[in-house]
Amino acid sequence: MLGLKLPTDPRWVNLAEMRLEDILTDHAYCEQKAATSCISLIQGFPDKARLVKELAPIVTEEWGHFRLVLRELEKRDLKLGFQRKDEYVNALLKFQQKGGSRENSLLERLLTFALIEARSCERFRLLSLYINEEPLKEFYHGFMVSEAGHYRLFIDLAKHYAGEDIAKARWQEYLNHEAKIMQDLSLRGDRMH
Ligand SMILES: [Fe+2]
Ligand SMILES: [Fe+2]
Repeated sequence: MLGLKLPTDPRWVNLAEMRLEDILTDHAYCEQKAATSCISLIQGFPDKARLVKELAPIVTEEWGHFRLVLRELEKRDLKLGFQRKDEYVNALLKFQQKGGSRENSLLERLLTFALIEARSCERFRLLSLYINEEPLKEFYHGFMVSEAGHYRLFIDLAKHYAGEDIAKARWQEYLNHEAKIMQDLSLRGDRMH
């Protein structure tokens, strides 16, 4: 699914379910970071008309996701905690090629975001299938569908701006590297990744 090389152990859902306040908090910040990342891409590449046009509504959507998670916390009388260090995203950022052309930096960032969306989507799918509580299944299903669309959008933008062959080749490198990152990270119920 989504080209990911290492499927998540479905037992992760049981761990997450036991730490709902933590997993919702982590999820909320994932949505906040997704919105922030889209804003920073728009700030960095205002000359890319298609990117600006297509990412502007995603900012709203991701912030809407943040609010949905907040509402879920509130409904359950749970509290939004502090943001944790995001080891997964930091490891992916380290893999980005730095110091190249502006075009290359755009490609690196688009593929990084595509990957985060793909992995999030994979995890939302597991939650939507295996979490015990019925309303939560629906809650997570909605995120799965939405993040799958974002994954597609980032891949399409990468192909559009870098060319299909270059984008595809680099995408394979990202997928391989992401599998190694996932292997090294411990499976924790308080983290989306
Ligand atoms: Fe989202
Ligand atoms: Fe997203």
